[in-house]
Amino acid sequence: MVRFDILSIFPEMFESFFGCSLLKKARDRGLIRIEAHNIRDGATDRHRMTDDYPYGGGAGMVMKVEPIARVLETIGADPGGCLRVLLSPQGEIFSQAIAGEMARAARIVLICGHYEGVDERVRQNLADREISIGDYILTGGEAAAMVVVDAVARLIPGVLGNDESAHHESFSEGLLESPQYTRPEEFRGWKVPEVLLSGHHREIERWRRREALKRTLLRRPDLLAGAPLTERDRKILEELKKEA
Ligand SMILES: C[S@@+](CC[C@H](N)C(=O)[O-])C[C@H]1O[C@@H](n2cnc3c(N)ncnc32)[C@H](O)[C@@H]1O
Repeated sequence: MVRFDILSIFPEMFESFFGCSLLKKARDRGLIRIEAHNIRDGATDRHRMTDDYPYGGGAGMVMKVEPIARVLETIGADPGGCLRVLLSPQGEIFSQAIAGEMARAARIVLICGHYEGVDERVRQNLADREISIGDYILTGGEAAAMVVVDAVARLIPGVLGNDESAHHESFSEGLLESPQYTRPEEFRGWKVPEVLLSGHHREIERWRRREALKRTLLRRPDLLAGAPLTERDRKILEELKKEA
């Protein structure tokens, strides 16, 4: 079981997202636990302020360090006892590999910023890792936290109905996945490739591997440098390059 704690000033945002689909099932089955905590509960002043003006001037508000520190203490998110992640556009870019590493943690705490961002002392003293979900700016870390929990949770054994499917997906083998089809065999003259209907498992595997290589070469050639490729894969890639 992996426990996720999310710190946010809008904890209600998570109810619907985590209350549906596979993640709901995983929660019901006790494979994951997700708790959203209101950062405001850590504010002790009269107005329960979670943000303030930036020192040195400038636009917007900055999220304060004390409420975040207090909520972390209240939920027992101690250093060493869990992985504390600050969601930030300045962090390392989230990937399937990082999701795989995180899925091995017993407890993950995600801190969502808002406004102009979070007091630097959160990053320096209260976070073990800083993660960005891409090179763009969101209004807050909540959508990023949903992305991270979703990607990590589906790698936890038992969460997907068939754990095999996680092994063949895009990125997990360093390549994009081959195209997928389902019934009917033909729709408006658009046919499913013959080989997939043949029942020849070896031929199907070969076709899938070739298509995965082709797709990766055409769409994400950058991935090929880090993919574990066999001699046969390299030959196929040479053929594909000639065809192109
Ligand atoms: C408007 S952003 C602050 C951006 C900040 N002023 C900067 O330039 O780095 C507010 C919050 O949204 C979250 N956020 C925004 N973009 C993100 C991204 N790409 N990945 C993860 N979190 C993001 C972070 O928690 C951030 O503190």
